[in-house]
Amino acid sequence: MGQIVVLDQNMVNMIAAGEVIERPASVVKELMENSIDAGAIKIAVSIEDGGRKLISVTDNGGGMDAEDLASAFEPHTTSKIKTSKDLQAISTLGFRGEALASIASIAQVKAVSRKKDSISGNSIEIDCGSKGNVSPASADYGTTIQIRDIFYKLPARRKFLKTANTEMGHIIEQFTRIALARDDLDLTLIHNGRELYRLVSQQGLRQRISELFSSKLGENLLDVETDEKGVHIFALMGRPSDSRTSNKFQYIFLNGRFIRDKFISHAIKEAFRGTIEPNRFPVIFLFIQMPYEDYDVNVHPTKIEVRFYNANLVHSQVLGTLREKLLATNLQPQAKLPMAGGSAGADVPTAGHRSREIADAMADFFKKHKPIPTQQQFVTRASSPCFEKHGQDGRATVKDAEWVAKYKVEGMKHETLQPERKFIQIHDSFIVAPTDDGFIIIDQHALHERIIYEVLSERLQKSKLESQRLLIPESFELTEAQIDVLKANTELIEKLGIELVPFGPRTYAIQAFPTLLAKATPVDFVRDLIDLLADKGASLDAQGLLAEVLNMAACKAAIKAGQKLSDSEIEQLLADRARAGFTSCCPHGRPTTIKFSMAELQKQFKRT
Ligand SMILES: Nc1ncnc2c1ncn2[C@@H]1O[C@H](COP(=O)(O)OP(=O)(O)O)[C@@H](O)[C@H]1O
Ligand SMILES: [Mg+2]
Repeated sequence: MGQIVVLDQNMVNMIAAGEVIERPASVVKELMENSIDAGAIKIAVSIEDGGRKLISVTDNGGGMDAEDLASAFEPHTTSKIKTSKDLQAISTLGFRGEALASIASIAQVKAVSRKKDSISGNSIEIDCGSKGNVSPASADYGTTIQIRDIFYKLPARRKFLKTANTEMGHIIEQFTRIALARDDLDLTLIHNGRELYRLVSQQGLRQRISELFSSKLGENLLDVETDEKGVHIFALMGRPSDSRTSNKFQYIFLNGRFIRDKFISHAIKEAFRGTIEPNRFPVIFLFIQMPYEDYDVNVHPTKIEVRFYNANLVHSQVLGTLREKLLATNLQPQAKLPMAGGSAGADVPTAGHRSREIADAMADFFKKHKPIPTQQQFVTRASSPCFEKHGQDGRATVKDAEWVAKYKVEGMKHETLQPERKFIQIHDSFIVAPTDDGFIIIDQHALHERIIYEVLSERLQKSKLESQRLLIPESFELTEAQIDVLKANTELIEKLGIELVPFGPRTYAIQAFPTLLAKATPVDFVRDLIDLLADKGASLDAQGLLAEVLNMAACKAAIKAGQKLSDSEIEQLLADRARAGFTSCCPHGRPTTIKFSMAELQKQFKRT
């Protein structure tokens, strides 16, 4: 006899629930999204015991009549799409018609709803898939759905739930995503009778970010907006100095839906390249709007991933928008000295009494939450080195030259240095110079590194680097593996202005070397270059690899820390700094300059 049976519908729902409903936070997300799709402008979420005991969501949306209430909890029932054509342009958050059926198969559910044009409401109860009748109930306009004892008939899943704190952390995260996506809604979140958030509409996104995170974060964000080629982008982004150790503070929204997207994350990382240290992540709230037809949301059960039909375009628009803004902004850190007994510069919690609970829940959440995969996991290496920006498929997208031209025009405005010579070098490492409203301290190595880096990349936009023939060619030995690396990168090496010729078995000679790197020792430089190409060549794309090479070159050719400089050398450095565009941090992302304002000094010396 055959072994195969057809599963009953409740089993099918429970299996679907395994995909859609991972934990209480998933229920909060699905219910809030349904409220939004129903046109609600007020949503109140009330939670007990981290969602294990109760999740209740009340909205003032369109509501459901008795008939809809009876079918809403059936599998594959939806009011949002009707034909396969609708699938090609989904404008609602939901469309799969499986959330309520999944939720009702794994918990006790009570729903009460009343339509705007109806004089009374109706209610229905479902207990792990067994559905009661719809009966009249008194209710306000809108819908309330209460979920009790999630997974109570599935001990294995229930056991998997974490502490109330951790589950609450996940719920706050889902609530936060929706609150950021829709600052036009009034939203409240209550836990065990305590109000964690009461967010009022129409106060603007910055205010919302301040309330969800901290006022310091909200105030400091840079904003940028572009609308080109059918892609509208709005972003509030942290400065490089606000960067974090994980990408948890990167919120990406597509037409009001929170998404994760490796191409967009890559574009963000690329935009900040050289302004933050490689292992840190920028803070950003990025809102993309584009026609629904230009991407597919039907690729993931929780719709957190989408498929762009022209991912390259989205990548280059995001990259270009963010990068231009960064390059046109003075990113020099302003020194804030700690005040006696105070904590200048620390994040100021704005949530008052509730901040402790939120902080605990979030700390727990972050501890346990896996970071979103970074671009490391998907960068592809273009087959031949090339000096243009690459999208994820290796095709050129945004040319560096465009950026350079743009930011040279917009210009980074440096503070005016005092005209008479008034600088000093301290500990042979830092230069202190007065400005018209305070003074700056420059890290001589970091600044010189940045200047060289900028000059090198600008020259490379136009052509190869100029080189000088060595009077006596310098020869050195290589292994077979190193020779392979050399051969695979001939174009790049030539572009750098390095001329290498075979000089016997496994021996090469350097005949010409870039003039700009005159301070570096040719053989050492070429050896390190080959090591770097061997090490990073496989994991980086052509543009990333070039950036690494230029980093290394700039570092080797730059003035060192601990090097005594003559007055004319310092003057030269300051003059180069004034001429250069972007100099506020070195290519590794460390600051080159710290500014102290008169106002800050007055405050420190208690003169104000
Ligand atoms: N809060 C609500 N207000 C009004 N209608 C709702 C609400 N929640 C769910 N519904 C109705 O129930 C249907 C099923 O919901 P759901 O299972 O989440 O599927 P989907 O959202 O994918 O359509 C929705 O299409 C909608 O018509
Ligand atoms: Mg839904």
